[in-house]
Amino acid sequence: MEVLGKVADLRDFLAKMRAQGKRIGFVPTMGFLHVGHLALMRDARSDGADCVLASIFVNPLQFGPREDYRDYPRDLDRDKELCRQAGVDALFVPPVEEMYPQGFATYVEVAGITEVLCGRSRPGHFKGVATVVAKLFNIVRPDYAYFGLKDAQQVAVIQRMAQDLNFPVEVRVHPTVREKDGLAVSSRNVYLSPEERKAAPVIYRTLERAGEAVERGERDAGRLIKLLEEGIRAERSARLDYAEVVSWPDLSIITKKIGPGRVLLALAAYFGKARLIDNILVDVEVE
Ligand code: PAF
Repeated sequence: MEVLGKVADLRDFLAKMRAQGKRIGFVPTMGFLHVGHLALMRDARSDGADCVLASIFVNPLQFGPREDYRDYPRDLDRDKELCRQAGVDALFVPPVEEMYPQGFATYVEVAGITEVLCGRSRPGHFKGVATVVAKLFNIVRPDYAYFGLKDAQQVAVIQRMAQDLNFPVEVRVHPTVREKDGLAVSSRNVYLSPEERKAAPVIYRTLERAGEAVERGERDAGRLIKLLEEGIRAERSARLDYAEVVSWPDLSIITKKIGPGRVLLALAAYFGKARLIDNILVDVEVE
């Protein structure tokens, strides 16, 4: 596996791959890899990408001033080994100055869908995500790029951006990978104390309960939001950030009746210093 830190070296490597007719599958990450990332790498392989490239870059632009950029978990040696085992052909690990050299002044903003959910709680977050992913797409020019549905709003933002800016990439999405007790895997789960870890599956349980209510015929967004809020508030160690019901993939807030179509039930909650997010997508039939 090649490990590259410079844009120019990565471009040389990818030019050689393309000259051999290889299709590039790209898995962008912030490292501290877990089974969710490995599933994306496996997808890239089984989808027929003949060259799998992963990147590890903890992107300072997508962290707010009081967020965990400095504390974000990092373990490059372990990540390299996991990538090797997952059959990654090349790993791009640029330093911050390579991505944002002195004088960097160009940003990508996706309007509308970034103003709800995590975009509301974390101002500027999706400007950072869209900017770094646009840069990575330009550098790599992947045929396919892989993202996990745990970050559903991120998926919607990247799909919108790729379409709006005509990136010739197919964005592929993997379902949320969960621990046995339902907790969505996330690099930030490492922040949880043993007690918080025990409590955290309440997020998915609450989402499932709301999903079951939809299956039983509940269509009132207000009642669904109340169910979500009550589920989290019943857990003493959790602090609710948001509970929302939005249309998918355009993320319009639904305040009255849900459906017909795909609807995203989304939760964010703090457990100590860990801010965890999760969601489920439900299909609402025409009545
Ligand atoms: O999901 C992530 O790990 C990051 O937001 C991403 C897409 C790699 C951009 O920094």
